[in-house]
Amino acid sequence: MATPIDRRTFLTALGLGGAAVVVSCAGDDESAPGTTTGGAATTVDDAVTTPTAGLVSDPFAWGVSSGDPTDRSVILWTRLVAATDTVVPLKWEVATDEQFSKVVGQGLVDADPAWGHSIHLDATDLAPATEYFFRFSVDEFVSPTGRTKTTPSDDDTLESLTIVFASCQNYAHGFYTAHDAIAADRPDAVFFLGDFIYESKGNPESFRPFDAPETVTLEQYRDRYSLYLSDPSLQASRAAAPWIVTWDDHEVENNMAGAISENAGEDPAEFLIRRAAAYQAYYEHQPVRLDAPEGADWAIHRTVRFGDLAEFFVLDGRQYRDDQPCDDTILSSRTDCANFAEDRTMLGAEQEAWLTDGLTGAQTTWKVLAQQTVMAGLVIGDLVLNVDQWDGYPAARDRLLGTIAEGGIDNVVVLTGDIHSAGAATLYTGPAEARVPVAAEFVGTSITSNSLVDRFPGGADAVAAVEFEGVRYLNVKDHGYCRCTITPQRWMTEFVVIDTKVEQATPRVDATATVVAGAPEVAVTLA
Ligand SMILES: [Fe+2]
Repeated sequence: MATPIDRRTFLTALGLGGAAVVVSCAGDDESAPGTTTGGAATTVDDAVTTPTAGLVSDPFAWGVSSGDPTDRSVILWTRLVAATDTVVPLKWEVATDEQFSKVVGQGLVDADPAWGHSIHLDATDLAPATEYFFRFSVDEFVSPTGRTKTTPSDDDTLESLTIVFASCQNYAHGFYTAHDAIAADRPDAVFFLGDFIYESKGNPESFRPFDAPETVTLEQYRDRYSLYLSDPSLQASRAAAPWIVTWDDHEVENNMAGAISENAGEDPAEFLIRRAAAYQAYYEHQPVRLDAPEGADWAIHRTVRFGDLAEFFVLDGRQYRDDQPCDDTILSSRTDCANFAEDRTMLGAEQEAWLTDGLTGAQTTWKVLAQQTVMAGLVIGDLVLNVDQWDGYPAARDRLLGTIAEGGIDNVVVLTGDIHSAGAATLYTGPAEARVPVAAEFVGTSITSNSLVDRFPGGADAVAAVEFEGVRYLNVKDHGYCRCTITPQRWMTEFVVIDTKVEQATPRVDATATVVAGAPEVAVTLA
């Protein structure tokens, strides 16, 4: 999916310059089901009255969020806790101050029960690179206030950008102390790289136990998101900055690959019914600038650009991938596994071609892949640590890194989640005797999900002692997130770690990794 067309460009192309026409920014001229647009058609002078719906309790208990900003618009999200099967009208407001004394946009929007009473309101006609605040209201209830920010325009010079990236927040495994820290950071944007929920059934022995079956149906997925979003720290983080999200496996099922379940023998047709339910629940709970899903196929790869400084390619490494080789076995032998050498796709042909075109034509200093699984080689002799990562898809990785090398594409940065460990690596390509560095990879550890050291203390020590090619930093024990400060001259990633077993904790920077523009070698300073 290409970058959504700018609303102003779209209107100009149609010969409609005025602000009275409201169109979707979702890439075509029709609002997707469950998606609503709004913007400058309503001005401050046209005061909007808060609608009445007869609700008897606060419907905003899951908070608010925003996402997928452009230079002129941002998606505003909420989902109502509403025990009704009717449409609920809401008032929305956007202001340039936290007290809402300078409202720049307001209007009415309907929460549709067909989409779980979720709202994806496209607030348009905003100014570039500007901070805004937003809220919703109905009856006597007013939502929490969200903070968001538009991007600079494509041609604008941007001297500095601060982003956070994070992943893997198993509710059962710890407190969301990392989200308190992200909220306090107030970055320009938060990238969430997947495993927003975990589908597995509740376990009374876990750190934060809950009682629920493994998620399979739409209602079960909705309930799981509701559990996660009941956490005030996660709500604070989601309200502190625009979020740009992709998914990994656990939004559907552990180690899924395309239409293939991890459960051997499960009928792909059955699995796709589950995937459709999971995708609808994902849409209902994320502030995405996307057409709503219609069934089990839903293209979510897209780009977000920050002026002349950075373009982010948000990838989907789950929906189109071939099945893992070697029966998806940890520590598989590259030579003994019958199908390891076969060509397998990670992104699917269409997304791979889209990415190649995008990287080749990118106009920004930094070209960033916001994606799921580790690209650096985690190989011990002949043994591949985890074939669910790019290591299980070597032909696809060679094609991608080869495209970057042969195209002379500079300043490529890969952001990664999934593996519950933190790391920084220089990515190499080419034959063993002539390896060339082509990109930098930063791997964020989990927000809470158990790390290697939680599960295999001895094994974690062994892994930490291995020297993997290009890996300059590896932390297999801590939880946290990554904070990146990006300038035209350098990319700096701070690995923030935090105690997740207490409700309030102080974050600290465990290491700082830096890449200088023009040279993909990663340098690391330990704290
Ligand atoms: Fe995970």
